[in-house]
Amino acid sequence: MVAPLTPDKKPAIVDGPVLSAELLAWYDRHRRVLPWRALPGETADPYRVWLSEIMLQQTTIAAVKPYFERFLSLFPDVAALAQAPSEAVMSAWAGLGYYSRARNLHACAKAVVEEHGGRFPDTEDGLRGLPGIGAYTAAAIAAIAFGRPAAAVDGNVERVVTRLRAIGDPLPGAKPVIRAQTLALVPADRPGDFAQALMDLGATICTPRRPACALCPWRDPCAARRAGMQEAYPVKARKRENPVRRGAAFVALRRDGAILLRTRPPKGLLGGMAEVPGSGWSEAYDSGAALLDAPLDARWKRLPAPVRHVFTHFPLELTVYVASVPRSEPAPEGCRWTIPSALAGEPLPSVMKKVIAAALEAGR
Ligand code: ADE
Repeated sequence: MVAPLTPDKKPAIVDGPVLSAELLAWYDRHRRVLPWRALPGETADPYRVWLSEIMLQQTTIAAVKPYFERFLSLFPDVAALAQAPSEAVMSAWAGLGYYSRARNLHACAKAVVEEHGGRFPDTEDGLRGLPGIGAYTAAAIAAIAFGRPAAAVDGNVERVVTRLRAIGDPLPGAKPVIRAQTLALVPADRPGDFAQALMDLGATICTPRRPACALCPWRDPCAARRAGMQEAYPVKARKRENPVRRGAAFVALRRDGAILLRTRPPKGLLGGMAEVPGSGWSEAYDSGAALLDAPLDARWKRLPAPVRHVFTHFPLELTVYVASVPRSEPAPEGCRWTIPSALAGEPLPSVMKKVIAAALEAGR
């Protein structure tokens, strides 16, 4: 194929071996020194590579470094980790967050010892069969620890490669194309260094905003930079807006100021938290029939404006009804009267605090 020419007469498309050689030459001069990284000429230790990759999922290098060192001193190899009591593993992990990673880490160490004779599998497929190891981590370990030509594609690598090749298809649909383009660049002789070079490039030069293109080993072949569009990549699909859910909330106020509350079911959204009685929340909620959901007979007054709250997965609009009831009013089944001084001790989520505040405000 004849590469298209640009005004500076350089080919816009450079082939994989040239690109990987340029990146590796940059890496040889600028590689970051990291505790889990083998130095040039050293052989990578699969245990250290695996441990670091699990710790680095959703966590920064700065946060991981002290934990990595501590884990190595407490559990110097995979057998020591497998034998450790789970409380010891969990407490060494405490503070790193996402605790399912620690549970999987321990399960993985046990699986390596019990099912693989204490040695990590040395292929992507073999690694993927272990707890806590997904596609990215399997590829990273296969490349770094075992020299396999695997493409370890995380968010940083997606950014670098979509810019290099000006891949304009939106994520996440573009993932297979990005993976294929990355794999096509992986050099047979230094796949582990190439994987880490891409990570370093994404972390230090090809940053999300204001990338340091002048310092980049791929500044000439980078299709996005040539078009002056580097910050436009990667393109992300617009998140589908979640539809509003609606419902009704009933604030019953006893004459002594007590508020009627109940506890939400233990599982699901806001499980086990406290709430004022109300309807279910749905897109199709019929507010015209809201009074059918009232917990007791009273002269319910509707507040003029609904209370709005945004959950991670949907926005909620609650129509709030308020009523005063006599001191003798019994709490309906599953509900309880909570006096004002006990309200602070109730596990009320923000949305319910808003509902109660709006009702009290309206009653002033
Ligand atoms: N992020 C995830 N894995 C990494 C590694 N091995 N080196 C640097 N950054 C990383």
